[in-house]
Amino acid sequence: MLLNLLLIIVAVVVLFLAVIYVLMFVIERKRKVLTFDEEYEKERGKNYPPPYPNGWFSLGSADMVKKGEVVEVTAFGQKLAVFRGQNGIVGVLDVYCPHLNANLAGGCVKGNHLVCPFHAWEFSADGKCAHIPYTDKVPVQAVTKSWLVKENWGLILVWYHAQNEPPSWSTEGYIQELSEYKYHSKSSDILRIHLQDFAENGADFAHFHYVHNLLTVPVANKFVDVKHTVSIVFGEGEEGHTASFTDQADLVWKKSRKEIPHAGGNAVVTFYGPGFLVFRFTTKIGQMLLIKTFTPMGHLKVKMEDYVYAPKWTFPLSIKYLLGEAAAQFHDDMAIWERKNYALKPLLVKGDGPIMQMRKWYSQFYSSAKPVVSVAETTAAEINN
Ligand code: FES
Ligand SMILES: [Fe+2]
Repeated sequence: MLLNLLLIIVAVVVLFLAVIYVLMFVIERKRKVLTFDEEYEKERGKNYPPPYPNGWFSLGSADMVKKGEVVEVTAFGQKLAVFRGQNGIVGVLDVYCPHLNANLAGGCVKGNHLVCPFHAWEFSADGKCAHIPYTDKVPVQAVTKSWLVKENWGLILVWYHAQNEPPSWSTEGYIQELSEYKYHSKSSDILRIHLQDFAENGADFAHFHYVHNLLTVPVANKFVDVKHTVSIVFGEGEEGHTASFTDQADLVWKKSRKEIPHAGGNAVVTFYGPGFLVFRFTTKIGQMLLIKTFTPMGHLKVKMEDYVYAPKWTFPLSIKYLLGEAAAQFHDDMAIWERKNYALKPLLVKGDGPIMQMRKWYSQFYSSAKPVVSVAETTAAEINN
């Protein structure tokens, strides 16, 4: 009798979880795929700041290039050859061979050298030609640009600077909890946005109520609203390239506006320069860490990758649910960003959030920060926020 009762309870719980699962992933708010008129996109992008801010950027996960392999990557409006020598070290080179401009990514790896497919000149990871098989004199000009590379958190990172200045900050010491977390999954997407719009999103306090008030489970949205309490802190001194945004998302009953206890969650989003950020989710159903990387490929074109981690014993359905929520919220933002323009002097009012402070923080990543309006021009209403 007791066993039967237990079995019925287990069956009901499993059925309940299965229904939630189906609701989450079948009826989820999918990303709207837009088609883009490339001519118009050039027009849309005119007001935006330069497409490539300075900073550390991911080219992809470390396993995209194994020992002895070479791949071609598009980043910063150009092609790069990413190869891994037999010593395990990754080299990132400008793709066109200085000899007759063959594409080095079409070549092969020999030892620790990348070999051009056209006349077999060999290049080391520092970009210098190390060997020409049919002559013993290697010209000093036989060099292709090599990029500063780091492998951190399973990612291949390169330093980009519009004027080739050395890194002004290091990636060491961040995301230390990864060693205790378990890798869960990865996803990748191409976004037709400017990177800065993602950063401005965190400082745009007013949009949360209108864009992010829905859960992934449509039935729940009839009764429940998501209430966001948001704040942002900009790093100072040596941490000046960081900014930390906190979103406390609580669930409230639509009618009474009363909070539903223990149903909310908290996301702390830390920007490490313009190229990557970390979401740290803390909820009653579990924790999750998401590294989001942005690689600007071209004008209003960004490759975004999400790397998901969670504490070792997190219930997989919790991760799926949190991921589904995060993705749905992101898709709601994308529907705005991929069609928006850049307001050079936004008409801000009280309640809009520290958008101009975010622009000022972000302007440190541009070599020529032409469209950034100074904080002095921030409206009085915003200062009062
Ligand atoms: S073009 Fe590369 S070796 Fe000739
Ligand atoms: Fe948003």
